Amino acid sequence: MSEAQLAALAAAVTTIRLVTKEAQRRLAAVGIEQPALEAAWLVEHAVGLSPLLQRVKADRTLTAAECECVRTLVERRARREPLQYVLGTQEFCGRAFHVTSAVLIPRPESTLLVAEVVRRCANHPAAAIVDVGTGSGCLAVSVALSLPKARVLAIDISSEALVIARRNMVQHGCDARIDCFEGDLLAPLGDAEWRQKIDVIVSNPPYIADNEISKLQPEVGCFEPRLALAGGPDGMEVHRRLLQQAPIYLRSGGALLMEVGFGQAAAVCRAAEESGWFGAATVLQDDAGIGRVVCVEKREPQREPCMGDRRQRP
Ligand SMILES: C[S@@+](CC[C@H](N)C(=O)[O-])C[C@H]1O[C@@H](n2cnc3c(N)ncnc32)[C@H](O)[C@@H]1O
Repeated sequence: MSEAQLAALAAAVTTIRLVTKEAQRRLAAVGIEQPALEAAWLVEHAVGLSPLLQRVKADRTLTAAECECVRTLVERRARREPLQYVLGTQEFCGRAFHVTSAVLIPRPESTLLVAEVVRRCANHPAAAIVDVGTGSGCLAVSVALSLPKARVLAIDISSEALVIARRNMVQHGCDARIDCFEGDLLAPLGDAEWRQKIDVIVSNPPYIADNEISKLQPEVGCFEPRLALAGGPDGMEVHRRLLQQAPIYLRSGGALLMEVGFGQAAAVCRAAEESGWFGAATVLQDDAGIGRVVCVEKREPQREPCMGDRRQRP
């Protein structure tokens, strides 16, 4: 009997109970923290039965294709690929977003950004809002769905990320209301149309210091895109560049909201203050009490801006 025939025979007698046990063992062996839970989710993805139905139908035999599918998913997870990439989805603001290794997996703390945009636009529903570094599109989509009259622009430097963002915009029925641009930070907005017209710029930029990336847990450091993580030598390079560019596009009183990493909020606030283009910064804390979002509003400069290329008024 050939190897393929033997595999087919083995698969023919594999039940949900057996394949789940095998998956649990494999995941536990490589140190996955919740092997039973994750095994059930992987089996659900492959076989289409919820964890509850897996128990009810524990003696159901799997087809060879189902068996192969479970094993492929388990092997990917065993190599520490994030569960969200293996399953292809992550929940954000109550909605499912498709994710692949081209985009950052949306994090719960980034919902702070969405809530703050919505709060600021409550009396200005037709606001023009830009999401810089849109990734999966989770911020742009969540904002567009919360503010149905807003004009939303989504920018990313990664064409692969924009493919995923557009897919999520279509999936959530707001693709017609969000314009996507590929390019570096705010450069795609050009020289004329959007100057001084934007009400809110929101961004979750890459903010890990370059030399910290190799120290992250393997799920993050080895699988999430470097473009979404690496924020320069101290992790705040993109924040500083956004602080330089934002005054060109924000209307007077318009806001720039940026997510920051652990311990970065004070330095980003200082950089905003030193630019001369913003009023006093406010910092929003996440559920763990970490300063997570820096909010600044554009004002006309009180004195000559002091950052290198900020000497000219926008
Ligand atoms: C931390 S991820 C955020 C993704 C998404 N907004 C979220 O909150 O989950 C940062 C994103 O910024 C993009 N990015 C990095 N550098 C950029 C740049 N110079 N211009 C535009 N986008 C950039 C990356 O490709 C990535 O998608």
